[in-house]
Amino acid sequence: MNQESNIIKGKTIADALENELKLASIQFFQKTGVKPRLSVIILGEDPASLFYVRMIEKNCQKVNIEFGKHSLATETTEDKLLALLQELNQNEAVHGIIVQTPLPDHIKEDKIREALSPVKDVDCFNPINMGKLAMGNPDFLPCTPNAVFEILKREKIEVEGKHVVIVGRSSVVGKPLALILLLKQPQANATVTICHSRTKNLASFTQKGDVVVAAAGVARLIKKDMIREGTVVIDVGTNEVEGKLVGDVDFEEVSQVAAKITPVPGGVGPVTNMMLMQNTLQAARKQVF
Ligand SMILES: NC(=O)c1ccc[n+]([C@@H]2O[C@H](COP(=O)([O-])OP(=O)(O)OC[C@H]3O[C@@H](n4cnc5c(N)ncnc54)[C@H](OP(=O)(O)O)[C@@H]3O)[C@@H](O)[C@H]2O)c1
Repeated sequence: MNQESNIIKGKTIADALENELKLASIQFFQKTGVKPRLSVIILGEDPASLFYVRMIEKNCQKVNIEFGKHSLATETTEDKLLALLQELNQNEAVHGIIVQTPLPDHIKEDKIREALSPVKDVDCFNPINMGKLAMGNPDFLPCTPNAVFEILKREKIEVEGKHVVIVGRSSVVGKPLALILLLKQPQANATVTICHSRTKNLASFTQKGDVVVAAAGVARLIKKDMIREGTVVIDVGTNEVEGKLVGDVDFEEVSQVAAKITPVPGGVGPVTNMMLMQNTLQAARKQVF
């Protein structure tokens, strides 16, 4: 049986962030007369995307950030989407922009990424922001990997000089997380190994990690025998299995050996949402001051 005490409660961290960000947003408004504003562009009616956008709206309300939703038909042309993006880029009342993915096949995602103003790019969608992160000089940290970083900081899990093993090399989670943990700053400075689907003998790597981050999108991939006793395990995965949300870590098993572990749901997810709010406030500060 897992001990309650080793479970990292993402919801509690997210609640603390919510209070801090709400206060910061109100103070920003009192100082500048400007309310931070986040605009979301969504094409079509994909249920998962619609759900995510509703959640963004709710979180904006919680922390006093204005929310704008631009719903376009799936068949909207690339030129029309680019025109809307330009309008939002130039609108001084808008501080952050999200283009909800996946985009329909007829739209070239790379073109949209490059068109999003880097100063309003609150989830590091534009390659300029990813490039800055790779150079060790980021303006924004992408929300999901930053949520993992935030959890490590708030739980006082030092990674400096430690070995962090990341399972997954996507440009949304695994790779940018490695770049964050490699930053030359006391809260980072980790030694990082990235594993992926072609990695041979995955367990031989995960067993060597002081911290293991699972971001593979494979339900219960990480088992107890793949983790050394005392390892910190962060589960980014969200997989639906028989109508239930489960992570990439076999929580029941691994929580018996992990020093600390995030559950799914209630781990990384709620913190990710708040990272988007934090980036929007940061974007507003950069644009107004
Ligand atoms: N909680 C949150 O806020 C949040 C946010 C974003 C994503 N997620 C979840 O995080 C997970 C990862 O998302 P993603 O966008 O990074 O997924 P992705 O683009 O599908 O990437 C998955 C990565 O895992 C690797 N992989 C797949 N199977 C593997 C295996 N058996 N062993 C080792 N590596 C394996 C893949 O390797 P290859 O590169 O070789 O294919 C790839 O690098 C998903 O479950 C997603 O739903 C959660």
